Amino acid sequence: MLSWLTRTARSSIGRKAVVALTGLALIGFLVVHLAGNMTFFADSDGATFDAYADTIGNNPLLPLAEIGLVVLFLVHMGLAVRLTLENKKARSKGYMVSKAHGGRTPGSRTMIFTGVIVLLFVILHLAHFRLQKGDDVSMASLVRFELSRPLGAGAYVVGLLALGLHLSHGFQSSLQTLGLNHPKYTPLVKVLGYGLAGLLTVGFLLFPLTIFFGGNS
Ligand code: HEM
Repeated sequence: MLSWLTRTARSSIGRKAVVALTGLALIGFLVVHLAGNMTFFADSDGATFDAYADTIGNNPLLPLAEIGLVVLFLVHMGLAVRLTLENKKARSKGYMVSKAHGGRTPGSRTMIFTGVIVLLFVILHLAHFRLQKGDDVSMASLVRFELSRPLGAGAYVVGLLALGLHLSHGFQSSLQTLGLNHPKYTPLVKVLGYGLAGLLTVGFLLFPLTIFFGGNS
């Protein structure tokens, strides 16, 4: 297993596959996170959301899941940056570098840039919610407090739009890297990619937008 991992990380195709796999796993986390967060809209006092946050917080497997998440983030970002630098170097030497699957799109052209914004967003997000949580703190009121401030809501909108652009290329590119690169399936993969990116972006944007403009506080 270890030698397979070392061999994979040594080849550029292997690194691309690991970026794709870790990216898909992180998208899986986002789908589950959004589904759980939707409990926020179940009632006006946030009781369902608080109960949901408590259930997650009391799960003994949480530290393990959090370590897994951090490892996924670090491996995904580290290898993606390395691949980008390698491609840049190869291009400056005049070597042919394979273009992103399916041609250049705004999403594919800005992957590193949107990736950095998403990283900054996640750091801000964890500082807001993960570090401030405590036994006597209601998660729902914390969310309402942060997202009813113009700076808080604005930062979330920027971070989530960057996430949407990142995912609009990331999902379809990952599937194609992992072998779903076929004239018959590529259009379907693209539609799925844009659909999923749109759903996740709009779903998460509901929080800053309804809280800031809707007076859900
Ligand atoms: C905009 C809507 C969002 C809301 C209201 C929200 C809410 C929360 C809350 C309340 C927590 C703390 C849970 C706890 O520790 O009990 C949390 C954790 C977290 N969120 Fe979000 N989140 C949102 C979007 C996102 C997005 C878009 C990402 C990733 C790009 C993200 C990544 C994370 C991560 C990595 C954690 C830490 C998980 C853990 O350590 O258990 N969240 N979120």
